[in-house]
Amino acid sequence: MRAVVVRRFGGPEVLEQVEVPAPEPGPGQVRIRVAAAAVNPVDLATRSGALSSAGVVPPRAVLGLGWDVAGTVETAGGGFAEGAAVIGLRDRIGTPLGAYAEQIVLDASAVAPAPPGVSPAEAATLPLNALTAAQALDLVKTTGTVLVTGAAGAVGGYAVALARARKLRVVAVASEADEAEVRAFGADEFVPRGPALGDRVRALVPGGVDAALDPALLGLDALDAVRGGGEFVAFAAGAAPLPLRGIGVRHVWIRADGERLAELARLAGDGTLPLRVAGTRPLAEAAAAHERLAAGGLRGRLVLIP
Ligand SMILES: NC(=O)c1ccc[n+]([C@@H]2O[C@H](COP(=O)([O-])OP(=O)(O)OC[C@H]3O[C@@H](n4cnc5c(N)ncnc54)[C@H](OP(=O)(O)O)[C@@H]3O)[C@@H](O)[C@H]2O)c1
Repeated sequence: MRAVVVRRFGGPEVLEQVEVPAPEPGPGQVRIRVAAAAVNPVDLATRSGALSSAGVVPPRAVLGLGWDVAGTVETAGGGFAEGAAVIGLRDRIGTPLGAYAEQIVLDASAVAPAPPGVSPAEAATLPLNALTAAQALDLVKTTGTVLVTGAAGAVGGYAVALARARKLRVVAVASEADEAEVRAFGADEFVPRGPALGDRVRALVPGGVDAALDPALLGLDALDAVRGGGEFVAFAAGAAPLPLRGIGVRHVWIRADGERLAELARLAGDGTLPLRVAGTRPLAEAAAAHERLAAGGLRGRLVLIP
């Protein structure tokens, strides 16, 4: 089967399409015929070597890419029948094969039924970013006000929708041009990105928000909007600010969770979670997809179709 891997770090040109044997499932695993694999920022950071430098990816001769998969089960297991439409998350970052491939083997516990009534490309945009948003919200205890930075992004959009579903008051930060979309996700308040964020949030929420989720990696600028003793969730290595003013600062690190993913798929199926596809590309054009994501300004995910 064909797969896209990296054998050296660098720009999009280091992505290589290779022919490898089909992966064989072990106990408790399923093999999935990949119909769609989303391209995420973590793939760019893996390819460039940034994640290895940050100590997140162990040194390996070959690294597979791609975390998000939608497809059909080829070898039954773990309660999934052959031919079932599924989505899944590959959360082991140092493995030689990822979701940028024609087939992938995942633990059945990382797999869930695909959301009903959506295309594989749409379904592939769900696992990594919706699970991350859900697991980040699990880290905060507040029932009050939550700030979400990067609210038009993949994680941020899901975080706004899930926070709203929890009946939190959501203050969203994004580009002015994204206000209508971010409000449609469920934001109660909108603050355009830019300088003096803390002051502008505090003008809407006197004393500051109870918690901040910071997928835009603003760090201190987002922390400044949080009240003393509040909560802050960081999303990347090196992105956590110091815990000033008694604010509890935590990191979210995604982990596969098929049961949770099944719940999120139901929320996607009923329209609570927006599935946004910026475009699709053949697997062979993974490098062009990386270039496009790196250029910024995408709304929704690019999805590779093997
Ligand atoms: N820790 C984990 O387990 C985990 C899991 C998944 C993702 N992540 C990380 O979370 C981050 C977000 O991922 P994503 O997939 O949501 O990325 P994304 O779709 O690119 O979204 C990031 C958003 O932040 C916006 N942004 C950038 N600078 C901003 C600023 N100064 N103010 C307000 N908004 C700003 C971007 O807008 P523009 O596009 O207009 O610049 C974009 O909408 C990435 O670093 C990713 O690697 C971590």
